[in-house]
Amino acid sequence: MRPTFEESMELVGLSSNWNNFNDDQKELIQALVDDGQAHLFAGWDEPGINEEKKKEFLDSLVKINGNYPGGLAGYIANARKLLAESKAGANPFEGLTPEKPDTVDLTEFTAEFEKYEAIGATHFDKVGMVLVAGGLGERLGYNGIKLDIAVEVLENTTYLKHYADNLLAMQARSESKRPVPFVIMVSQDTGPKTIESLEANNYFGLSRDQVHILQQELVPAIADNSGTLALEDKYELILKPHGHGDIHMLLYTSGLAAKLQREGIEHLMFIQDTNGPSFNTLPSAIGVSVEKGYDFNSLAINRVPGEAVGGLARLVGNGKEFTLNVEYNQLDPLLRATISPEGDVADESGFSMFPGNCNTLVIRMESYVKILEASKGIIAEFVNPKYTDETKTAFKKPTRLETMMQDLPKLFGESEKVGVTIFSRFWSFSPNKNNVVDAAAKIASGGPADASATAENDFYAAGRARLDVAGMKVEEAEQKMILGVPFTLGPKVILRPSFAMTLDEGCDKVSGGSISDEATLIVDGADITLDNVQLSGKSALVVKACDGAKVTVKGAFENEGFELVELTGEERAPDSDVPEFLKIRGYNFVNKGAAVYEFNEPGEYVVEA
Ligand code: UTP
Repeated sequence: MRPTFEESMELVGLSSNWNNFNDDQKELIQALVDDGQAHLFAGWDEPGINEEKKKEFLDSLVKINGNYPGGLAGYIANARKLLAESKAGANPFEGLTPEKPDTVDLTEFTAEFEKYEAIGATHFDKVGMVLVAGGLGERLGYNGIKLDIAVEVLENTTYLKHYADNLLAMQARSESKRPVPFVIMVSQDTGPKTIESLEANNYFGLSRDQVHILQQELVPAIADNSGTLALEDKYELILKPHGHGDIHMLLYTSGLAAKLQREGIEHLMFIQDTNGPSFNTLPSAIGVSVEKGYDFNSLAINRVPGEAVGGLARLVGNGKEFTLNVEYNQLDPLLRATISPEGDVADESGFSMFPGNCNTLVIRMESYVKILEASKGIIAEFVNPKYTDETKTAFKKPTRLETMMQDLPKLFGESEKVGVTIFSRFWSFSPNKNNVVDAAAKIASGGPADASATAENDFYAAGRARLDVAGMKVEEAEQKMILGVPFTLGPKVILRPSFAMTLDEGCDKVSGGSISDEATLIVDGADITLDNVQLSGKSALVVKACDGAKVTVKGAFENEGFELVELTGEERAPDSDVPEFLKIRGYNFVNKGAAVYEFNEPGEYVVEA
């Protein structure tokens, strides 16, 4: 028979401390003891000993209890249920058959692409951006927050500044000029530095009111199948991250999703901390969501079969049908058990039928707020314990519940529409996740590096593509291997969002001209036009204009431009004073005489080489 609360208290030696607890603490302790967690209070010292530690421990329990919808009791109940399912080997896809999802192919810059961009561009003031930036970034191993890393090192633009620049460009283009809400999810690991970076840079020109910081909390680790909370030590729980799916819970508990909806926001776009190209896709992806009425639009890339990225599949069966990200390690067995004995293979397009998930999501606010209310924002938690043996009775180390933001459609019903928009990889998905050693190993085994150099490369590639579409002759250089990771030497093109957010804008502002393989072009300003500009060899041209400065640039520029310089082993060593964002890519650029024109006063100007 289960001991009574009083017996448990006696058992764990809590009775002597009882009178020192306040009512809230007493209530929570009682509930936890009743819920089989008496061990949390076992062996407590007599009153007067370790009081500070006891207080901190109780405070942490009270905090977690308040943060998680349904409190600790809810968390433990969810853990027990999921652990029982995991032990029973429940197949999450039982009875479901995968099919090709509903896709819009925007891998080419066609008239259809431009049509969607045009629709999206009229909705800039109805979009909120959500950046999930709570991750530890262990694979990259950077000693700071990933948002502070430069996406390019010609001008050292950090990811955070790049994102802010895009928000400013969106609002500058909207009729209402309404500030675009910017929600940033941080964790205790990334929060202080994210705020520091915003403060130190005057919020990168954004207004403080438009930036909403939400902090995700850690969740308690679970020691066994009965949902026993794991202790690091007496008076200390083991706490672990709960995953980026926390964003849904926080948007619900903070009331922010509902508030933004009331304020007229119709779509939220969710992006990751180091996916530089996210904003290339924004106008067209919003256009697709609006035009197709998608409640959930997953941005994707064509996926090579077996590639280590989640596949998007329509799953049909059990009287249901929904489109979902299936993790790559689950996709192959699911296919073998259902439609494809050979597993995940290429179709006639040469790619898997199941596009790769970029984890850039566009979610329709109306359906989102309803789902949040119904689910309290707890989206499809899962558990992935590592068992000591096949009896599945013990774990190698404590586990915890996790959630992923892309799992939201698991809660959708028949009326919600999920679609997939496929883009070229360089245009949509080039995260900076891996340190250079691991990145080189990935390249050696034929995979994408997803590293600093490849992210920078794709940043310039997007600029090249915009020039190409606008009719400039773009001559692409060879790739150079730097520390085992490929980098295309040029042309290095940065068209800032102030200059162009859509292909169409680029076409309006660029006419003719040519740019050769190792040249550089940086353009920043809304009213700059490039009229038959020619950049040969390594020549570099940088043009910046403030609002109200109308600048026409013409002619052939010739100079020594920017030179790529590889860092030496000594410069890359941990004790060298070279900034870490350079060390992690292994190179820098040195300005050898770029032509630079800056216009800080409104007026009309002509720059002629
Ligand atoms: P990643 O898969 O890159 O994970 O997260 P990570 O934790 O940042 O890096 P590793 O795995 O330790 O190397 C994808 C996105 O989700 C965010 C990350 O900040 C990144 O933008 N994330 C991840 C959160 O916001 N919270 C989490 O708990 C986990």
